[in-house]
Order: sequence, then structure tokens, then C-alpha cells
Amino acid sequence: MNQQHTLRQRAQAILRQNDRGTYTVPTEGLYPFQWNWDSAFAAWGFSTFDLPRAWQELHTLMAAQWDNGMVPHIIFHQRDDGYFPGPDVWRCQTTPETSGVTQPPVAATMARACWAKNPELGKAHLARLYPQLKRWHAWFMRERCESGAVAIMHPWESGRDNAPDWDAAMAGIDTSPVGDYQRRDTQHVNADMRPTKEDYDRYLAIVYHARDSGWRDAEIRAHGPFRVADPGMSFILLRAQRDLCAIGEILGEDVSDIRAWIAQLEDGVNSLWNAQLGAFDARDLRTGEFAGSVSSASFLCWYAGVDALDMLKTWDQVWAACEFGVPSYTPGGEAFDPMRYWRGPVWVVVNALIGLGLSDCGHTQQAEQLKTASRQLIERAGFHEYFHPLDGSAAGGRDFTWTASVWLAWLAEGEV
Ligand code: GLC
Repeated sequence: MNQQHTLRQRAQAILRQNDRGTYTVPTEGLYPFQWNWDSAFAAWGFSTFDLPRAWQELHTLMAAQWDNGMVPHIIFHQRDDGYFPGPDVWRCQTTPETSGVTQPPVAATMARACWAKNPELGKAHLARLYPQLKRWHAWFMRERCESGAVAIMHPWESGRDNAPDWDAAMAGIDTSPVGDYQRRDTQHVNADMRPTKEDYDRYLAIVYHARDSGWRDAEIRAHGPFRVADPGMSFILLRAQRDLCAIGEILGEDVSDIRAWIAQLEDGVNSLWNAQLGAFDARDLRTGEFAGSVSSASFLCWYAGVDALDMLKTWDQVWAACEFGVPSYTPGGEAFDPMRYWRGPVWVVVNALIGLGLSDCGHTQQAEQLKTASRQLIERAGFHEYFHPLDGSAAGGRDFTWTASVWLAWLAEGEV
């Protein structure tokens, strides 16, 4: 058996091992529930060898949708004391129990990818998912697009929890109401690879505020301690709207409102261009200030169909400093920390989205460069959560669902 074949078997085994029947956990121990965007990636991975299971994953995710259209970032299908903060902290009063914030909407994009594997089988699934996805996307446009770009109310929504993108906006948050609590993540993974205690205090302060606001969007938007326009969320939603539009067309629906959302977002993402930095950047909506951060989210422009040529220059600069790109934060930046989560490590799952975008925009050389580096990371270090961007060593949780999925759906393609 060659190495590619063995890695494919291993990736499939990881998905099976993390499969809990109707949903997939990101990894055993550290993340024992269903996570929103992890699940969409799981569906993408399953679509390469078990298409019915892929559709099931998306249906389970969308079944947790709130009445207002929001799709939560964690679904607590069962109790597990190995994770904090659990449902008793969030107190969202939903069935199933969930967190109260969302995550990047990759589900429509992955639903379209699953459909493409077998359009005949897929159409009924799309018909079921379409109204749910559309309500979620409508929620984003209604509640989160005040500046044209998409705002997040909690760093956890971005999926890039402790990115330097949020540092300035997080700095002034009052953590005095937080009190004592016991983290669980650092029992599973080395604390140097995780967010700090100060970060966690602030994460909880934001959750407590939103919870005390009864999880009402307008209230959280007006008075919450954190409101930042995120390039990652904005580009991912723009791409998702394009895929939702295509799904609507497959189903013969009237997609004029989705087209209007696309135009609104195409215009809105321009507000995130930081000319001084030469990159798309996060922006604190309470102060109007840019974060000054070249992150992996900056490079999601192509995924959204926004072919910013200046980003190719920034791409070259980042790769000159870093053999195993794309780092979650540029090695040239002062907050760079190569092993700490979203402050430097490479997340192959984000690479996959960047890679899809590069290919779509015809930047084939960069797309190949990214695939080669991503393959090397997994071949050398395994299916880890993230990797050191300069030496390629493994970090975070092991046997990770989304790393296995992108191997199957993006990297192994044409290789086995
Ligand atoms: C971490 C990541 C987030 C992911 C979750 C489960 O919180 O920052 O993006 O969804 O873990 O893998």
C-alpha cells in the first residue's frame, strides 16, 4: 500500500471514530459535542465515501436552528463534564441544548458540494436544507450586516477564537463579574497551545452579558462589550450566499433576494480593506479602528470570489517568512506566537477554503503551493488540529475530524 492510500484509510477511520451516529465530534475528549462549521467539514469528508452519512450530518446541524434563524456554534447532544462552558453556563433554553452564538456558515457550500457528488440523490436533501439555510443567511443579513461587512459579537463566532484580530476590542472588557471557574480544555491540551486565562475571562464576560440580555440580538448589538467586523465571517458568508443562490436555482426558486444579499456583501467587504496593511483586516465597529492584522482570514477573499490582486503581494510576503503557510497570523506581526492556537499556527481546514478560492480565481500556482504545504504537514505530523507554521510540527488535538475531511475532499483528490 502506498502512503496516499494509507492516509486515506486513516482519514476515513478518524471520521468513523468521531462519528456519534447522527453527528460527528471534532475530536474525542477536547470537543465532545457537535460544532457548527466542523460539522459542515465533516459532511464534506463523508461525501467522499459515505454520501448518506454526509447529508445526515447537515440535517442534524440545521435541526438545531433557533426560531430567529441563527444556527448555534455548539449543540450539546448529551451531557459531558469534560467541557467548559457547558449548557448550564449558556442557559439558552432550547431543545436540544445549544450555545448562544453562531459560527462561519460553510454549510451551504458543503451542501452544494455533497449535491455535486450525486445530483439525483441530492436534490431532495437540498430541498429540505434550502429554507433552513436561507433563514440562517437572512439572520446574518438582518442582525449582523450593519456596516456591510459581517460583525461578530463574540470571538468564538469567528471560529478563530484568540486571533490577534480581536486584541484591541477585547482589551477593555470588564471581567469583574466573571468570578471563579474551572477550564477543561487545558486538561486535554498543553496550556501553551491554548488561549490565556485573560482571554477566557473575557470570553465569559461576553457570554454572561448576552445571556443576561436574554440572547436578544438588538440588545447584544447595542450594549454588548464586543462588536467587530470579521473578514473571515464576511468572506465565508459571501461565498455561502453564492452557493445558496446556485442551490435555489437548482430547485427552481426565486433567488432575487439572495442576489441582493450578494451585491450588499460584495460592496460591504470593501470596508475591510486596510490600505496601510495591504490586506483585508478586522475592524472594531465601536471605534472604527482596524486591527492591523494579516491573518489567514485575510486570504479568504478569493473563496468569496473577490480577486484582490494586492492580496497576492501580501501572499508572497507571508510565504517568504513561512514555509508551511498559511499561518493564522503573519510571522512578521508583533503578536505572532507559533504554537498558540489562532496566533500563528497553520490550520489546514482554513487552507482548504483558501485553496478552493485560489483555484476558482485561476491562481493555480498559489493553489498548488498551498496544497503541497498542507499535504506535507499531514504526511509528516498526522491529522492534528493545527501545526507550527515554521517547522511543521503538530499541535492541539489529534485525530481531528476536519483535518481528516480536508485530506479526503481536497488533498487526496486525484491522488488515490
Ligand atoms: C475551537 C476552534 C473552532 C472550532 C472548535 C471545534 O474552538 O477555534 O474554530 O470550531 O474548536 O473544533
